[in-house]
Amino acid sequence: MHSSEPKSAAAVQRWIDKHTRSSDRFAYVADKYEPHRKEHGCFDVYPSSNGPLLGALAAAAKPKRLLEVGCGLGYSALWLAYGAGLRGEVETIEARKEHAKIARDHFKSEGLEKRIHVLVGEAARVLPALDGRYDLIYFDTDPGESLAVLDHSERLLRKGGLLISANLFLGQFAPDMPGLETMAEYRLRILDATRWLTAYIPDGTSVSVRV
Ligand SMILES: C[S@@+](CC[C@H](N)C(=O)[O-])C[C@H]1O[C@@H](n2cnc3c(N)ncnc32)[C@H](O)[C@@H]1O
Ligand SMILES: [Zn+2]
Repeated sequence: MHSSEPKSAAAVQRWIDKHTRSSDRFAYVADKYEPHRKEHGCFDVYPSSNGPLLGALAAAAKPKRLLEVGCGLGYSALWLAYGAGLRGEVETIEARKEHAKIARDHFKSEGLEKRIHVLVGEAARVLPALDGRYDLIYFDTDPGESLAVLDHSERLLRKGGLLISANLFLGQFAPDMPGLETMAEYRLRILDATRWLTAYIPDGTSVSVRV
């Protein structure tokens, strides 16, 4: 066997982490989250754990209209827009003005500002005003908001569209975090086979197709 062959689960994980990072064209944006948290004092802005996965899913689904709930500093929206290609338009909801500004600067420096639009406001206020048919929705914000976002996702996503959900199991990092019970209900509700075909990924992400 080749000596660089990973021979344990931990070694496989290290191999995946290393090669995911080296193929991540927007890693430099993900790297800004930690210093940002220290400077801004916010606690809930983390980059998605696997940007290339978002890019690959968007490239496969070829969505024209994408919606993200939880923009942060823009890392995941960049991957979604890049994967979706030139015909994809991303709307991304962000409650904090400071994050929206930083994200917009990132979109501009990547030449993607015309295809990624930040909707500033709380998801609960912004979502009811949205209409039409989205092809892909990415949920990545406060777990307490998850069920309300799921209701809107059922309304907004076309049949065959993709709902990607992050942070299904935040209790492992913060057992007392508010909203965990809501998220526990969410991760079971996406198993409802009359509405979704869902696959869980061990890192706590899920991919659900609207049926
Ligand atoms: C985990 S971060 C998003 C990270 C981003 N998706 C990425 O991967 O680069 C969550 C973001 O949601 C925002 N947020 C928190 N509660 C929100 C709400 N109720 N509505 C909209 N945005 C919210 C936070 O300010 C934070 O920027
Ligand atoms: Zn912040």
